[in-house]
Amino acid sequence: MRHLISPLDFTTEELDQLFDLAADIERDPQKYAHVCEGKILATCFYEPSTRTRLSFESAMTRLGGKVIGFSDANSSSAAKGESVSDTIRVISCYADICAIRHPKEGAATVASSKALIPVVNAGDGGHQHPTQTLTDLLTIRSLKGRLGNFTIGLCGDLKFGRTVHSLIHALVRYENVNFIFISPEELRIPDYITDMLKEKGISYQEVIRLEDVLPELDLLYMTRVQKERFFNEEDYVRLKDFYILTPEKMELAGDDMLVLHPLPRVNEIDVAVDEDPRAAYFKQAQYGVYVRMALIMTLLNLAN
Ligand code: NCD
Repeated sequence: MRHLISPLDFTTEELDQLFDLAADIERDPQKYAHVCEGKILATCFYEPSTRTRLSFESAMTRLGGKVIGFSDANSSSAAKGESVSDTIRVISCYADICAIRHPKEGAATVASSKALIPVVNAGDGGHQHPTQTLTDLLTIRSLKGRLGNFTIGLCGDLKFGRTVHSLIHALVRYENVNFIFISPEELRIPDYITDMLKEKGISYQEVIRLEDVLPELDLLYMTRVQKERFFNEEDYVRLKDFYILTPEKMELAGDDMLVLHPLPRVNEIDVAVDEDPRAAYFKQAQYGVYVRMALIMTLLNLAN
């Protein structure tokens, strides 16, 4: 039985197969409308979410399966003190596959060690968010036509942003990816990630001003400042509007630079940028459904 806890749980070859399947689903969704009939997905969300939970639910529903779950820890037995391990043992009796989001780093790993069904990490604290990474990779592959040979700027909350951490881990496996980390000093990328890059001999730059590097980028990955992971409100208020991507700043960027964002957006991208053909974040949300459909099929052994 397979789980998806980290983006590295799949080899790049396996990811290619997954993305080929997702692309086929995009071409002909009707072909897959009954693949998961009789199967049940449980979504266990101990932390707020719109996109991730609903895109999982949409994915399973579009495959003809059914969905059960909770979207608030307070409405589950966690409120009575039940452990994640016990909850997942029980969910294993009710569902065929489970997507779990939890505020604690490592919660999905614990769940997978006790589960009798495939577990998908839908975000564990500030640690990893592998299905967002699959979404990001599929978006890049579909819209850029390649994974590798590009310069990507990651901008915003690089300290707490789990989507950033997961994406970097996934991208280091592709050829010639040049990283530019754009953040205020307080929200710099964690040392464990720069150490990993150094160890692998992968070059990266760290800068504070977005404007300085915009012309060099093939991809700009914007992120929101992760309010819920701050220890005090004052720091959040000071940093939340540090970056605001505007149509004026977009003039500094190349004609085929794509703007990605895992969403939700707060203030970091002016809504006027949405009209720019380089803004790819809503398409990215659509790819999130195709890739989760492909993932559910793969983990349930229904892909071949
Ligand atoms: C991200 C997350 O939950 O980490 N959202 C998402 O799943 N699309 C990004 C965020 O919350 O900023």
